[in-house]
Amino acid sequence: MNHECPGPALPRARGPLSAAVTAHLRGAGPLPRAGDAEAAHPYGDDLQLALYVCYELHYRGFAGVGPEHEWDPGLLRVRAALEHRFLSALRADAPAHDSLDDALAGLLVEPVHGTGVSHYLRDEGELWQLREYAAQRSLYHLKEADPHAWVLPRLWGRAKAAMAAVEFDEWGAGRAERVHARLFADLMTDLGLDTAYGRYLDAASAELLAVVNLMSLFGLHRELRGALVGHFAAVEITSSPGSRRLAEAMRRTGAGPAAEFFYDEHVEADAVHEQVVRHDVIGGLLAEEPHLAPDVAFGIDATGFLEDRLGEKLLADWRAGRSSLRAPLAGTAAHSR
Ligand SMILES: [Fe+2]
Ligand SMILES: [Fe+2]
Repeated sequence: MNHECPGPALPRARGPLSAAVTAHLRGAGPLPRAGDAEAAHPYGDDLQLALYVCYELHYRGFAGVGPEHEWDPGLLRVRAALEHRFLSALRADAPAHDSLDDALAGLLVEPVHGTGVSHYLRDEGELWQLREYAAQRSLYHLKEADPHAWVLPRLWGRAKAAMAAVEFDEWGAGRAERVHARLFADLMTDLGLDTAYGRYLDAASAELLAVVNLMSLFGLHRELRGALVGHFAAVEITSSPGSRRLAEAMRRTGAGPAAEFFYDEHVEADAVHEQVVRHDVIGGLLAEEPHLAPDVAFGIDATGFLEDRLGEKLLADWRAGRSSLRAPLAGTAAHSR
């Protein structure tokens, strides 16, 4: 059966792995061979895009790709090989804190000289850079909080109740117009971007794909439930101050009311979420399964590692006056070099 499903177009390939996976989904070619993933750069465009495409079959899929591919055993074998390459590299490369307490404390340390992306955008970001930032982040924010939902059946008691409470907020607390993915779409409209799901996949950098893939990796594996909780904690604990800077950036550049509102909303909401995640999601999980503390720390460390790589890429491109995207946005003022 070939059930057509709506969704974004399959992306353009970035190398042999992503070429084979997308060709297979079009019904026109063999899957990558065993061993191909091991030869690929673990954070590179080709592996990250191939993995992203595999994961997206569990979310909304792609136009013209039948939903039965979600559980295609051959494709799942490929996905496992890609994940193994990615996860092994993260375990080797992400700087590890000595303990979960150290990892959590590290999240609260603001860069002394304010050198992060949100500092840059607040202080000197131009509208074209805010548009690029939103276009890239849209690959996550248009499915905001969805990757974390996979963990709910793997938690119970206090951790489950608290995780569900935070997710309820992320999904609008019962109001469709307040779903955070919808608020982000409204932000994109203010910035003159296309709000179609997956629209900017071809434009997104490997560094951004890795950030999004990490959430799906942690969410889809029960074995990695502690890492998923760590990832969620890292996002929620660092979100409030970062969102305050991004709201200022939107105000300073006159991006528009919805663009400001998305980040203003996160300043408020994530100050609360931080406490709930810290005390009840992490606290509840570790009360039940104390052996998962190193996994929670790994989730925090891997998140910081990949976010730092993305931040360095964005700032290097913007400081050089060039686009951070693989294809510059239509309607973006020319960048001076
Ligand atoms: Fe949110
Ligand atoms: Fe939140």
